[in-house]
Amino acid sequence: MTSLPTQQYPTNGPNASVPWWADAVIYQIYPRSFGDSDGDGMGDLPGITARLPYLAELGVDAIWLSPFYVSPQVDAGYDVANYTDVDPLFGTLEDFDDLVTAASAARLKVIVDLVPNHSSDLHPWFVAALAAEPGSPERARYIFRDGTGPKGSEPPNNWGSVFGGSAWTRVLDYGEPGQWYLHLFDVRQPDFDWSNPEVADFFDGVLRFWLDRGVDGFRVDVAHGLTKADQLPNSTTNMRAFDGAGSSGPMWDQDSVHDIYRRWHRVLEEYPGDRMLVAEAWVAPLERLARYIRHDEMQQAFNFTFMKAGWDAARLRAAIVDSITANSSVDAVTTWVLSNHDAVRHPSRFGLTDPTDWPNGISARDEQPNAAIGLARGRAASLLMLALPGSAYLYQGEELGLPEHTTLPAEFRQDPTFFRTNGEDAGRDGCRVPLPWIAGAPGYGFSPTGASWLPQPPEFRNLAADAQERSTTSTLALYRSAIALRRQYGLGRGELVWNTGEHDGGDQDGAERDGADAGAGTDIGTRLGATEVIDVTNGAVRVICNAGSTAVPVPAGTTVLVRSDPATVAPAVVAPNAAVWLVASA
Ligand code: GLC
Repeated sequence: MTSLPTQQYPTNGPNASVPWWADAVIYQIYPRSFGDSDGDGMGDLPGITARLPYLAELGVDAIWLSPFYVSPQVDAGYDVANYTDVDPLFGTLEDFDDLVTAASAARLKVIVDLVPNHSSDLHPWFVAALAAEPGSPERARYIFRDGTGPKGSEPPNNWGSVFGGSAWTRVLDYGEPGQWYLHLFDVRQPDFDWSNPEVADFFDGVLRFWLDRGVDGFRVDVAHGLTKADQLPNSTTNMRAFDGAGSSGPMWDQDSVHDIYRRWHRVLEEYPGDRMLVAEAWVAPLERLARYIRHDEMQQAFNFTFMKAGWDAARLRAAIVDSITANSSVDAVTTWVLSNHDAVRHPSRFGLTDPTDWPNGISARDEQPNAAIGLARGRAASLLMLALPGSAYLYQGEELGLPEHTTLPAEFRQDPTFFRTNGEDAGRDGCRVPLPWIAGAPGYGFSPTGASWLPQPPEFRNLAADAQERSTTSTLALYRSAIALRRQYGLGRGELVWNTGEHDGGDQDGAERDGADAGAGTDIGTRLGATEVIDVTNGAVRVICNAGSTAVPVPAGTTVLVRSDPATVAPAVVAPNAAVWLVASA
């Protein structure tokens, strides 16, 4: 048995209890696609409020809402034109207040998205910047620069947009081609200049506005991008977000960004209760990510190393061990995530020939995932994740085992990535399809009229929530049991002990030796058992997850608490692509 650095639990003071977020299961709602109440085919806030009982029954502790603010929806709301109001597409501020009240009655915390790296081009500040002169205070809230080359006709530097193409667009000044402005994302998402104190003051106000309305926290969009290297030097890295091990280069992960999070930490401290910030920061290595969750900064950061490990035992083990080790060094808890609105849904990724592949969307001309194998692996990985100490983030629909929509016709695609790469990257629409609630209803019950802003694939029918509610072997039933047992056994606050040697010919000595320098390198995943089986104990619960191709026996003297494959298949073994939770037999 190998014990590694343990998860730390911040207590916010000597006598305080563990904050709610430390072991929470947090459910991401993508408002466009969760539930539509008014029949226009676009999800909305009342549609969420109406479905909160479903989430309470699922057993999650909190919801995180992707943006619902006033926006032209160029990047599905991650282009904000007014940070302190609700877009009429989604409802009104009163609807938001009703949602918070209903969530609180259902004992659900509410986290909202904060998009501080850039605004929409329709934000009044950017409109004013375009109308103002070079060098004006209006321009100074964004990153405007003169071009290079003859008549400034070349961009100020070589940076590329995360969505493809250049990160610079030229504007007209005095009726002639003039300055350029920076947009790390779409041309309609100009980056703020965070070295301008006006920007920081403005966002303090945004935080307070939502804290005053009762939110429990913020998911911070592009948290590693807000400040850029002085003088904006050329980049030697070809950076695309949601890609590679992490983003590096003069536009990412600058030391100065941490001043912003220390400031926000203090703003949150002005409010009662355990308010929190969670970073969306695509940085590597994990030690760099841990800097975002030091005591006086954010509380959590998404664990994209775990999300990108794919269906691969060594990579999953390494991600688990390395992230707990890195976070322990700053006394922070670790989070876990398998899917979100920027990634191909994990059952579909795991059904590819290479189940560690990380495509930016899947279209009909790409390899089509094996749905059955992908779902089996997806369920097993989710069961593994829900057994880990720390907090787990779920993406809406994963509890139904939804696949990516991999054959969405081009005419429906909306993700700017698709357009800015000329269709080379399918983009993220395939994971954003409206949820199926009722198998027999038009639009599977997403909307009272059957309308749906993206078409739903026919596979959604059998996966509808009402159909799964009637089955004890459904993915929904699996998630409900696992979340309830996770709470019952205190797994979110547990500690991991690795069981090595059993599945690789009994090299117990090797296991102990490996444990001695655990965390020293990324090959730790291989050293913690050279097999395709993850075998780890958290408190009273032993988890065996089989990512190999041969079945492994359920150890003698144990009883199965929950399993990812139907029990009728082979009760005495953990089949390939399956996971079980075990306790000692009474
Ligand atoms: C984040 C969001 C993504 C968005 C991007 C630009 O990565 O998760 O959906 O496109 O930021 O705001």
